[in-house]
Amino acid sequence: MRIVLGVTGGIAAYKAAALCSALVQRGDDVDVVLTEGAERFVGALTFAALTRKPVLTSLWEAPETIPHIALARAADAIAIVPATANAIAKIALGLADDLLSNIALAARVPLIVAPAMNSAMYEHPATQANLATLRARGVTIVEPGIGFLAERESGVGRLADQEAILAAIDASATRARELAGERVLVTAGPTREAIDPVRFLSNASTGTMGIELAREALARGANVDLVLGPTSVTPPSEARVVRVVSAQEMYDATLARAPGADIAIATAAVADWRPVQTYAHKRKKDEGAEGMSLERTPDILATLGERKNGTFLVGFAAETRDFETFALEKLASKRLDAIAVNDVSGNDSGFGTGPSELVLLWPGGGREELGRAGKGELARRMWDALLRVRAERGTRT
Ligand code: C5P
Repeated sequence: MRIVLGVTGGIAAYKAAALCSALVQRGDDVDVVLTEGAERFVGALTFAALTRKPVLTSLWEAPETIPHIALARAADAIAIVPATANAIAKIALGLADDLLSNIALAARVPLIVAPAMNSAMYEHPATQANLATLRARGVTIVEPGIGFLAERESGVGRLADQEAILAAIDASATRARELAGERVLVTAGPTREAIDPVRFLSNASTGTMGIELAREALARGANVDLVLGPTSVTPPSEARVVRVVSAQEMYDATLARAPGADIAIATAAVADWRPVQTYAHKRKKDEGAEGMSLERTPDILATLGERKNGTFLVGFAAETRDFETFALEKLASKRLDAIAVNDVSGNDSGFGTGPSELVLLWPGGGREELGRAGKGELARRMWDALLRVRAERGTRT
């Protein structure tokens, strides 16, 4: 495995040398990047001797090689050990004023951050908020332990043990390859069913859950097709995104991409009804609503279920009551391999970019509570559960 080991300027930097040695000994190819602060604690020579490679310390050393982009692309994982409060703050904000912060910003591979600092700095709300931001983006934080600190007192902020850091690096790198070579199809967002040129029937979906599931599938190495209804939430640029407006357009785009998909997840809140007739001109108030009637839209997921040929099919059920009963009916009627249920009766759950709560159900009585979390975190939990269920059932084609 090729690992970029970023070392920042804290006293625990000396422990990064032992970690570097352990990585090299087990056969990893390690590129060490030191910040200016790190160099004050440990010499580049130590790491150069361990890795038998030049140690990188500056953005300006060999600009013709564009080192930050080259390293960000070549690495399987980037581990920042130790990470100071300042390094964490810079990455959370997207600042890029030295080689390591540039690599962290350019990289699309797993990032593992092992904080080490004084307790007060670690517990400060600013540091905690920055760590929460990184976690929400899928960065693995290897929590510091409680122990003897450089201030000669015991407290939280001590760099995690080497075994914990190695395990976190391995888990992140394994996860990054979990869906390699697979094609994942996701539907997301609302649809709009036109009444006239300015009015439509729709719902409050923002597409966030589907976008996060697509992002996580990409992070695990999949090729992702995302069929997305109207939303202002930005989808990941690495996905092949097809923008659609109506249920019919979503149906056409999804069914065109379904053959050969390994996994399809329907998160879209497809409008169930559409006006039978769309007026060519804006309907005047005094023309009334007489004659306006609705018809059912095509059920995309049910059609995927009818035609499924080896695709692992996952649906969503947003309900305001009896939600698991309704979800189990859908699981059977749409021939799904799993269904994620959320209770949208409260005004702080379900739709929108905020946190949500999900329960995953699968045929044969399988049930797992994914808990309440931000949708990025829920997407990670859901993929963990889905891939475990699929592996247990041996449904892989
Ligand atoms: O039947 P119901 O709409 O409650 O089912 C919800 C699930 O079906 C979701 O996964 C949703 O994306 C999908 N669905 C669909 N096409 C529709 C209606 C729902 O794909 N027309």
